[in-house]
Amino acid sequence: MARRKMIYEGKAKILYEGPEPGTFVQYFKDDATAFNAQKKDVIDGKGVLNNRLSEFFMKGLTNIGIPTHFLKRLNMREQLIRSAEIVPLEVIVRNFAAGTMSNRLGIEEGTPLPRPIVEFSYKDDALGDPLVTEEYIIAFGWASQQDLDDIIALALRVNDFMSGVMYGVGIKLVDFKIEVGRVWDNDFMRLIIADEISPDSCRLWDMETGRKLDKDVFRRDLGNLADAYTEVARRLGVLPSNVTHTPKPTIIN
Ligand SMILES: Nc1ncnc2c1ncn2[C@@H]1O[C@H](COP(=O)(O)OP(=O)(O)OP(=O)(O)O)[C@@H](O)[C@H]1O
Ligand SMILES: [Mg+2]
Repeated sequence: MARRKMIYEGKAKILYEGPEPGTFVQYFKDDATAFNAQKKDVIDGKGVLNNRLSEFFMKGLTNIGIPTHFLKRLNMREQLIRSAEIVPLEVIVRNFAAGTMSNRLGIEEGTPLPRPIVEFSYKDDALGDPLVTEEYIIAFGWASQQDLDDIIALALRVNDFMSGVMYGVGIKLVDFKIEVGRVWDNDFMRLIIADEISPDSCRLWDMETGRKLDKDVFRRDLGNLADAYTEVARRLGVLPSNVTHTPKPTIIN
């Protein structure tokens, strides 16, 4: 088989040239990183789970009229996506204080926020993705005021959708991060949700027990990450209820 042209290898995914112009194949790796890749590991099965979960969320968004880059899942680890010009921002929506917000402001994790708060970091690993204001974004030309207004509206719609879906399976959506990209239909530019939506990019807490079901399990050494992601997938009906993440064959005597 001819080798595919690799476009980009990131920490969690690889992008390959797609079968048609304007498409990429997005491959989900098992690699987990945290704290700007200072902590690293390989988690068996994570890529398979995130491929499935991102498909599930992106399809759900499409169904309620929010445009995404997702075209079709190709196999266990790959999906076909629309290539987009990524806006160099991490768009973060928070419903409850946690993580850097709690550290920065001294607010206890889990404190409900008065309303969903949208914040932006500038995507630059060397700088550690610093928090930036809207002023910065417009002054440095990372997005126009109009784009920014559209991005905030999109992010809040994604938040409503994701919060509702997770609430339905007993999970609290504490916060999440999305990336947004530009695509052109002839001369008309549209913003779409790109990258991934998965437990790598959300904070998900079980409503009853407070158990963490997201990448904090890895960041904070709270147990088996694939087990946590499998639980999310199972509750959402993305995996049948009797499946565990173990991808390896078991020896039966
Ligand atoms: N539809 C798309 N079109 C173009 N690029 C995309 C699209 N969706 C995601 N990407 C980019 O593909 C890469 C995915 O790889 P990964 O998430 O592993 O990167 P990363 O290590 O987090 O690095 P980065 O700092 O670039 O996000 C990211 O750079 C992301 O911005
Ligand atoms: Mg990434």
